[in-house]
Amino acid sequence: MNDQINTIEAAQYFNKLYEEQLTWTGATRKRLYRKMNLFHMKQILEVGSGTGAVLREIQTINPRATVVGIDWNLIALKYSKGASDNPSFIHGKGELLPFAANSFDITVCHYFLMWVKKPLTILEEMKRVTREGGWIACLAEPDYGGRLDYPASELWSELFQGSLSAPDPFIGRKLRSLFFQVGLKAEVGLQSTVLSPDIVKGLYGLEMEKFNHFIPENNSKITLLQEILDSYESEEYFSFMPVFYGLARNVKEGTIKSIE
Ligand SMILES: C[S@@+](CC[C@H](N)C(=O)[O-])C[C@H]1O[C@@H](n2cnc3c(N)ncnc32)[C@H](O)[C@@H]1O
Repeated sequence: MNDQINTIEAAQYFNKLYEEQLTWTGATRKRLYRKMNLFHMKQILEVGSGTGAVLREIQTINPRATVVGIDWNLIALKYSKGASDNPSFIHGKGELLPFAANSFDITVCHYFLMWVKKPLTILEEMKRVTREGGWIACLAEPDYGGRLDYPASELWSELFQGSLSAPDPFIGRKLRSLFFQVGLKAEVGLQSTVLSPDIVKGLYGLEMEKFNHFIPENNSKITLLQEILDSYESEEYFSFMPVFYGLARNVKEGTIKSIE
């Protein structure tokens, strides 16, 4: 995904996709924002901020906060800087955040850990830069192992395996363990909703486009899957991806009683 944003047109395309994805899970995210008291926090960071879709939402909800995004993709950064003056966007790596310890009240990421090689190092960094009593939140991480589709076909997982360049498409189930390993007690829950047939139709269209673009050598399998889809009415389509969140309060070891 990192390399997929390699032109400003690609950034525009992915920004549209990211903004649309946000609308599917808005209710759960707002509940998490309320839990973290995001509306009243002053310093908020997103690691892997991409085209800035999540941070623009956060800045709108809390216009007085200093909201910062960091990403290593220069084109995504250029897009996000062009889209708004606030939040501010910085070039850098999640593995080595260029901030002093205890700089932020809330540090979030969103569809990020599945794309990194060292999720633990990044979570450690997110914890380091968050003040004591602040919040660390992985707002959405999928797990492709739990994906359900109708029409059902083995071809879905075969084609996903070939086309996904993410280091860990099964990160969702590991969130609790990752938080535990950095000394945090996480609340883990589900972000996903059951998508309407219209949205699934659009999603399938995008996914077939991606298969054609990234694994053209699988042309015969892609055509076969398209034929299966075409043999159903789109009103019958069903697709469910378990997307999880994990969030924890940054409390000193030994003082964790409850995250409520
Ligand atoms: C799938 S995008 C998600 C963007 C954004 N969080 C959203 O949901 O709209 C993942 C982003 O993480 C960035 N990224 C991946 N690995 C990174 C790393 N190690 N350090 C900083 N950014 C990274 C990519 O450049 C990409 O913009």
